[in-house]
Amino acid sequence: MPHAEPRKLLVTSALPYASGPIHLGHLVEYIQTDIWVRFQKLIGNDCLFVCASDAHGTPIMLRARQENIEPELLVEQYRKEFIQDFAEFRIQFDNFHTTHSTENRALVEKIYRRLDERGLIYRKTILQAYDEQAGMFLPDRFVRGTCPSCGAKDQYGDNCEVCSATYTPDNLIDPVSAISGTTPVQKESEHYFFKLGAFEESLKQWISAGHVGESVRRKLDEWFQTGLRDWDISRDEPYFGFRIPDSDNKYFYVWLDAPVGYLASFLNLCESTRGKDMGLDFDQYFDEKSSTELYHFIGKDIVYFHTLFWPAVLEGAGFRKPSGVFTHGFLTVNGQKMSKSRGTFIAAATYLKHLDPEYLRYYYAFKLGSGIDDIDLNLEDFVARTNSDLVGKLVNIASRNAGFITKRFAGRLADQLDDEVLYAEFVDAGERIADHYEQREFGRAMRAIMKLADSANRYIDEHKPWVLAKDETNLPKVQAICTQGLNLFRVLMIYLKPVLPGTAAKAESFLAEGEWTWIDREYPLLGATINSFSPLLTRVDPKAIEDMVEASR
Ligand code: MSP
Ligand code: ZN
Repeated sequence: MPHAEPRKLLVTSALPYASGPIHLGHLVEYIQTDIWVRFQKLIGNDCLFVCASDAHGTPIMLRARQENIEPELLVEQYRKEFIQDFAEFRIQFDNFHTTHSTENRALVEKIYRRLDERGLIYRKTILQAYDEQAGMFLPDRFVRGTCPSCGAKDQYGDNCEVCSATYTPDNLIDPVSAISGTTPVQKESEHYFFKLGAFEESLKQWISAGHVGESVRRKLDEWFQTGLRDWDISRDEPYFGFRIPDSDNKYFYVWLDAPVGYLASFLNLCESTRGKDMGLDFDQYFDEKSSTELYHFIGKDIVYFHTLFWPAVLEGAGFRKPSGVFTHGFLTVNGQKMSKSRGTFIAAATYLKHLDPEYLRYYYAFKLGSGIDDIDLNLEDFVARTNSDLVGKLVNIASRNAGFITKRFAGRLADQLDDEVLYAEFVDAGERIADHYEQREFGRAMRAIMKLADSANRYIDEHKPWVLAKDETNLPKVQAICTQGLNLFRVLMIYLKPVLPGTAAKAESFLAEGEWTWIDREYPLLGATINSFSPLLTRVDPKAIEDMVEASR
């Protein structure tokens, strides 16, 4: 509900790795966040949404080598692609920056220095797998071999995909380097560690204060039971990242500078607004005592980083901690992991060649709740659901009424509604719908809205304007009924505006109005002249799905 004093919120989605295209799995998160942010803006809160591309790390360095380009160039190319894909999916960032930026370097160094001054960093020599031919230390994922627990061949150095055992690369039987194929040796190197253990009590407190969801809290309890290990925040060269100040050949591990990228993107936004009306103050948002709200949307695979490392680093460096970390599950397509061979590993850009982004936004909204359950994109269900809800129920309400208003009344709506009680029911339902949005129970919000759409269609079925219109003396009644129908449609479109921003914009111009806010639903549109109707959304053709899957194979 709109608060007397607008809340100030800063919201983020996880930063996509700049080493591959955005796909439908990523989009679960960006669409989820965007819907929530748009909802906050719609009800009048002061909400900012920042993101960036995650530029550093070994995989990106190796990708660039493979393509024979500088990593800076590779990540910049992807960043441009990301910005384009997100814009087409109507994901409306206030800023989309990069972790390979001057702001991020300055912030990471500042955070590191503060942690160091407070005695939270120490050095220790460790043994690690080293590829002598490639001349580099190997991240766990780059060592492959036979699982020590079930004997499955060609498994990663950190866990087995067959039996789910977790271990370290030196436990693997017959390990080989994924880079050169040679057998790695164990080699010593000095690393920098962050004392995560020092934050155990304050993290427990933060978690029990309700800043993470219930299922994540249970997972965290397990981790606390095994004890928090200090965190290795350094990597040896060659590495694409930021060099650790005063070290000669050590780099910050990508997972240290990646979440700092949230701050850097926001700082970059603050700098771009300096001297302007909306001038943003970085400290107001990140000071230890900030009264603004900070929310991170993430996938369940990166919970450890966001609910343990990140709040500890923020606290250690004297910044505020997040108000909430909102975790979602993973996307499956037709009940299975996305797969290139099945054609279900679908890039955002491929989807856009075949289908309107509004359908996917709606389908994901329909499927999303506040929990961490995986969500399934069943392609048949996708066609059936979007056609039946968006075209059959929603757009149909407008098309059934618009023709009469245009042809019989020169586009003019009646001065009064036909059924004010029904209209009031639609307005009142907004309280519950807003609550669902706020709680990220988008599926519940969509079901409540579609129930209203059914009731709007039932109203028209019962009043049969097409029958009444045959007799001239009924015309005032016809105008009132169609005005009612269009106003019910208008309320539904306001409710759907966070999910269907493109369709809502078309509906605003069809009804010859400016940009709606949540409160506009309380004031029906009467006596106004509207524009003639053209279909706001058309049916999904199953052939388009087939083509999209074929193009993804
Ligand atoms: N770069 C890190 C995040 C750093 S945040 C400081 C990363 N990048 S990612 O590109 O792999 O993923 C970005 C986000 O998309 C993550 O929250 C991840 O959980 C989410 N998803 C990636 N694949 C996904 C699915 N198949 N399904 C749902 N979400 C998925 O992790
Ligand atoms: Zn195994």
